[in-house]
Amino acid sequence: MTERPSGVTTDGDAAEDLAQSTSDASLVRTLARSREIEAQLAIDPSRFRMLTGDRPTGSLHIGHYFGSLTNRLRLQELGVETFIVVADYQVITDRDGVGPIRERVMSLVTDYLAMGIDPQRTCIFTHSSVPALNQLLLPFLSLVTDAELRRNPTVKSELEQSGDRPMSGLLLTYPVHQAADILFCKANLVPVGKDQLPHLEQTRVVARRFDERYGRANPAEPVFPAAEALLSTNAVSILGMDGQKMSKSRGNVIELGMSADETARLIKRAVTDSDRHITYDPVGRPAVSNLVTLAALCQDRDPFEVAEELGDAGGGGLKRLVTEALNDRLAPHRARRAELVAEPGYVRQVLLDGNARADAVAEATLDDVRTAMQMVY
Ligand code: TRP
Repeated sequence: MTERPSGVTTDGDAAEDLAQSTSDASLVRTLARSREIEAQLAIDPSRFRMLTGDRPTGSLHIGHYFGSLTNRLRLQELGVETFIVVADYQVITDRDGVGPIRERVMSLVTDYLAMGIDPQRTCIFTHSSVPALNQLLLPFLSLVTDAELRRNPTVKSELEQSGDRPMSGLLLTYPVHQAADILFCKANLVPVGKDQLPHLEQTRVVARRFDERYGRANPAEPVFPAAEALLSTNAVSILGMDGQKMSKSRGNVIELGMSADETARLIKRAVTDSDRHITYDPVGRPAVSNLVTLAALCQDRDPFEVAEELGDAGGGGLKRLVTEALNDRLAPHRARRAELVAEPGYVRQVLLDGNARADAVAEATLDDVRTAMQMVY
């Protein structure tokens, strides 16, 4: 996650493709549809089952916090039944080896709980613990072609970013595995960033083809629903403290688990410019505006208003405000996080319970699939 924050594109052809598939008409349509879904969510959240997930490749940071975590919490609080996959098998799509995977998985679960994800209402699980989910991959793979997978802009972009690495079978097919993440629990709602839209499209294609091929016995009751993306209409992307894309190796990332002092040190080193008058101008002054955005997000305020209030406070005044706002905002999260870190048995139990629940749901879906495919013996 730290190396490849969702919603961030790269240079090169793949990025162009991605832009093509997500920028124009289809993106406009998805956004309009997301607005309609939001209206339905406010009226009847029980119509939705949501699935989202993260790759355990690093620690969660403020980009995740404002980009996706707070939205998940909002949906949970609205009453939407929620599943969160800690996508451990996706870690090996574009790299060799899993890294300190156990630690990273536990750190993710700890952050979810610290921010208010409630294990009574939200099922948190890991791919590798749910055999029936993974088994769905076999029939699903028979429904897609390699040409279709090779065209997937997100796969292409990940291949480009992984340098000289050849395309692995898993990198090529992981969008189908991600379809299994979504369809194993028959989720119909997936809050995602733009970069994940091709996977959602692939998921709908798999669901539709499965029903066309095997679900004819009762066309009125498809085995799988059509999963829809929920794009946030006011998505902001936060840059690192140097105004560049967040990256652990650049040391420009503020992780949720950092102390208030570490946070202050990172913000102190943040890039600003020599103009003492603070304005909110993301195109003209990206680094300064990034800090203004951050303060505004922390205080649930309008960035223009924050900039105006700062006036001639200069980079120093801006950094003081951001440090205070961010540390205030994250204080409850960090306090709860510290308590949870002292209770590793509890965090592990949450995951074990989530895995058991996901396993039961996946087995039931696999039974439906076996029935549709007449593989009941
Ligand atoms: N691919 C997502 C990412 O890299 C993580 C993920 C795995 C996911 N399975 C998912 C997201 C299912 C949404 C739905 O961020």
